[in-house]
Amino acid sequence: MTEIKAAITGVAGYVPEDVLTNADLEKIVDTNDEWIRSRTGIEKRHILKGEGLGTSDMAVKAIEKLFKKTGTDPKEIDLIICGTVTADYNFPSTANVISDKIGATNAWSFDLNAACSGFIYSLTTGSQFIETGKYKKVLVVGADKMSSIVDYTDRTTCVIFGDGAGVVLLEPSEDGNGIQDSILRSDGSGRKHLLQRAGGSVLPLTKENIEDGLHYVYQEGQPVFKAAVTSMADVSAEIMEKNGLTGDDVNWLVPHQANLRIIDATARRMGLTSEKVMINIQRYGNTTAGTIPLCLSDWESQLKKGDNIILSAFGGGFTWGAVYLKWAY
Ligand code: UT7
Repeated sequence: MTEIKAAITGVAGYVPEDVLTNADLEKIVDTNDEWIRSRTGIEKRHILKGEGLGTSDMAVKAIEKLFKKTGTDPKEIDLIICGTVTADYNFPSTANVISDKIGATNAWSFDLNAACSGFIYSLTTGSQFIETGKYKKVLVVGADKMSSIVDYTDRTTCVIFGDGAGVVLLEPSEDGNGIQDSILRSDGSGRKHLLQRAGGSVLPLTKENIEDGLHYVYQEGQPVFKAAVTSMADVSAEIMEKNGLTGDDVNWLVPHQANLRIIDATARRMGLTSEKVMINIQRYGNTTAGTIPLCLSDWESQLKKGDNIILSAFGGGFTWGAVYLKWAY
């Protein structure tokens, strides 16, 4: 029997219209364009504005583009997985809201919280449902409205994050293309360096902890940076070695876009030249679960059937990992 692999058969992305440039941030906090560019690579980020709009609204825009491109009827969708840390609500899940908004009445749906690794965790999870043969069309979304949890008086975090969403359609493939392998890891002891302290069951929201800003993203940049450089580079090298790939065999690295210096270190470790690395951090900043599908969407026209692609991410948790896939169209 031919092995069923889960293949990405369509991709789309969406970023909101409003743009927040480094020059805009200079007016809000004590920072400057030179610092932000040289330390992170970011020039601007997109921000979702408008009352009552949340993460699901960006995801829906991306999914509508995907449906149009692929000619998909929402009723054909079996399952929706949404990687996000900025869910519309604590419950129900954003994926439930998305399924309603797009009319995916035959789908079941859930969110997956793995911070910046949310997309590769969700992709790996979604691929299992295809590989069993039971499901034929799975939507994997990575979307975050980071502006809803960023403190715009904290220069150490507000320059980094942006809002955005991306989505892929997963379908069965029997020609050998699709997802080949993944290595996923987590280490919850990293939570002290990167977390949203209030708003969960440990510290429910109160007037006091909101006044203290505990509902915002808290990040100690240096320890997260060190762990990200090591872990993203290690896991990317590991998945290449495990699958007998050299730098020459890899067509594209699709790295999580947290910091240009982390991306460069990962690419160097993998033996890749810069033209094989997808980088759009300068335009979007760090959109958390959105970064990888937004890259795939931006580079879609350059991808060829059979291309060897490594996706790689590191984020809060800590969570990290890499996925090896062969592009299917
Ligand atoms: O995606 C999820 C995972 N997250 C990451 O991967 C992020 C990992 N961390 C990083 O990317 C980097 O640590 C940051 C970009 C967050 C910070 O860069 P850094 O080179 O590690 O800077 P730093 O925290 O060591 O700060 C260096 C200096 C400090 O000043 P002093 O103490 O040397 O006087 C900071 O106060 O830069 C200062 N600083 C800033 N200056 C201007 C911090 N933020 C800013 C800013 N503008 N926005």
